[in-house]
Amino acid sequence: METLTGQVALITGGGRGIGAETAKQLAQLGATVVLVARTRAQLEATADEIRAAGGRAYWFAADVSDEGALREAVQGALGITGNLDILVNNAGFIQAVGPIETSEPSEWWRTLEGNLKGLYLTTRLVLPTMLEQGRGQIVNVLSIAAARAFGGLSAYSCAKAAGLMFTRILAKEVRKRGVRVMAILPGAVDTAIWGTGEGIPEREKMIRPSSVARLIVQMLTTPPDATVDELWVLPQEGVL
Ligand SMILES: NC(=O)c1ccc[n+]([C@@H]2O[C@H](COP(=O)([O-])OP(=O)(O)OC[C@H]3O[C@@H](n4cnc5c(N)ncnc54)[C@H](OP(=O)(O)O)[C@@H]3O)[C@@H](O)[C@H]2O)c1
Repeated sequence: METLTGQVALITGGGRGIGAETAKQLAQLGATVVLVARTRAQLEATADEIRAAGGRAYWFAADVSDEGALREAVQGALGITGNLDILVNNAGFIQAVGPIETSEPSEWWRTLEGNLKGLYLTTRLVLPTMLEQGRGQIVNVLSIAAARAFGGLSAYSCAKAAGLMFTRILAKEVRKRGVRVMAILPGAVDTAIWGTGEGIPEREKMIRPSSVARLIVQMLTTPPDATVDELWVLPQEGVL
């Protein structure tokens, strides 16, 4: 059953992981999906897979912390159909892992800024269109680290915690103007974000990216008189 036909969804970090799975599932429901990330080959592969399954997909290579490149991507997305109905702010990365006492200041700031700036800039660029339409939905993909303290993850967690307050404030600002703003806070998900180094929790006990995507789609297909607001999602067996 197609429930999102005619809607356009912009997914940052749509080249792989949670973003790619979300794009595939939104496309299955009939949405036209627009993927934004930096790695062209992954964007192309995900878009090709969606098209091969009968969906509509476009992609733009951009770093979400680069306002100029991101503006071009958003304008490109708007040029496709003229509207933007869904934004999934999903791009993110983990760096600057380790205790605060030995952290490297420039790497720490880069991690905090990189994770937060894209969320703000993409929202800032998309929001006027949604408000003009009087209709729109935004899901911010945050992390359980936004709300619980994990030693060694300070820069990433501070960015996600700021993203949570950003979500709450934006929801308050626009909820009476037709725009629904939500956040999902997953625990450990089995994606490339964990890298290949030592000390990674057991991958088989993590959540599948397709499960997180399914929940994001459920948030986006909640009846319009309700909002999921904030959704915490933990691995059933409790890794993170
Ligand atoms: N995996 C987990 O355990 C977990 C748990 C909670 C929350 N999350 C959150 O879920 C989101 C998706 O992560 P994932 O687990 O799916 O990781 P992933 O597989 O590494 O995917 C991250 C995506 O974000 C893109 N990205 C990263 N930095 C970007 C930038 N500056 N500009 C544009 N695109 C950028 C990446 O593409 P490029 O590198 O090609 O740009 C990639 O497409 C992130 O926000 C992450 O913090 C993940």
